[in-house]
Formats: sequence, C-alpha cells, structure tokens
Amino acid sequence: MRVIAIDGPAGSGKTSVARAVAGRLGLEYLDTGAMYRAVTFAVLRAGGDPADDGFSEKVARAVDLRVEQDQVFVDGVDATVEIRGRSVNRAVSQVAANPGVRSEMVARQREWVRRRGGGVLEGRDIGTVVFPDAAVKVYLTADHAVRALRRTRQDGLADAPSLSDGGLEAAAVEAVAADLARRDLIDSTRRAAPLAVAPDALVIDTTDKTFDATIEQILELV
Ligand code: DC
Repeated sequence: MRVIAIDGPAGSGKTSVARAVAGRLGLEYLDTGAMYRAVTFAVLRAGGDPADDGFSEKVARAVDLRVEQDQVFVDGVDATVEIRGRSVNRAVSQVAANPGVRSEMVARQREWVRRRGGGVLEGRDIGTVVFPDAAVKVYLTADHAVRALRRTRQDGLADAPSLSDGGLEAAAVEAVAADLARRDLIDSTRRAAPLAVAPDALVIDTTDKTFDATIEQILELV
C-alpha cells in the first residue's frame, strides 16, 4: 500500500500541501482532522457534553461520516461549514483526546486506505500510529505567528466579522493564535496518540518556504 503521511500542528500548511501532493501523484486525499471535527459536530448536535467520554465514543462508533474532497456529511447532513465553526473549534481537541473515539477513527482511516490501496492522509498521528509503516512521512511545521495568520485567513473567519480592516485582522489573528496555542497544548500532551514527530519523518519548516518548494521537496522524497 502506498501511504503518504502528512502530520503537523494546525496552520502548518498540511491541508493545501496534502491536496497538492495527492493531485500530483493521482492519489486520493483524506483530511483526518475533518473526521474528529465531524464527530465533535455530531456530539454537539445530539446535545452531548464533549467532556463525557462514554457519550462521545458511542457517537463516534454509530455516526455515518462521509469525508469527501470538498464536503463533509454527518448522518446525511452537510456539515462542511459547521465543522470549522466556533463551537466545534472549542470542543474538538477534547473529543480527539478520547481514546475510544480515536480507536474508531483509526479503524475507519485504515479501512479507507485498504479500499483504495493507498492515499495521502493528513493529521497528527498518521506516521506514528495509524500507518507507522507509511512509505513517506512528512512532518510540517511553522512559527506560531505564521500558523495563526494562515489559519485566520484560511478558516473563512468563523471568528471574525471582517478582514478588510487591518485592526480587525490583527485582533482576529490574536484570537486565533490563542486558540491554536490552547489546541496545540492539548493535542501534544494528551495520552492517546499525541502530536509527535515520527523518528523517520522528514521535517519541513514552512515558515519561510514557498508552497511550490515544499511540494517539490515532498515529491522528491516520494
Ligand atoms: O487539523 P485540524 O485542526 O482540522 O484537527 C482538528 C482536531 O483534531 C485537532 O484538535 C487535532 C485533532 N486531530 C487528531 O487528534 N488526530 C488527527 N489525525 C487529526 C486531527
């Protein structure tokens, strides 16, 4: 199986890089973060408390998830926009730290790859836990301030009214930076599959690197 694992913290550029690499190689791409977001959405929609591990695990096992290239459906409902919204952002790290939720998502990710014979997967634990034997492992990173700026611009600003004004943008970036720091801390200190660099991963710092240079470096490795 040809698996390309792309891990790293939020805002490191994983999504755009993983999509581009998949496109260049003619492989399918799976955003595993969207799966944890979708489970969180389902928990909130059912009126559950994200801190209730038993409830979240039950939801994770039962939920009908369809993570497509540009859309995410949760029990048949289009949740593409909501999974990037404020309430999911606030709760997702807690749900993703739940070992029961993780084992169900990991099983689904392996099944997704088995059916296709390979693919490009982005997440936090793809090279360390989900596919420790992946042919290619990349760990993307970038300075915290750069990641916050990218996330603010990319997320369509669920948390900010407008970016036409520089002051508002600065405030939005600051809010996103605080949220990223909070999530990074939970993601990298949780017990179950914390965010970590696989020993055999190629670490790419994208702070001062162009998008094209990053893609070329990964394709060279492939
Ligand atoms: O990449 P993202 O911001 O969409 O990820 C959402 C959350 O899911 C984030 O808190 C990290 C978590 N996650 C994870 O624990 N394991 C993965 N493979 C992917 C994401």
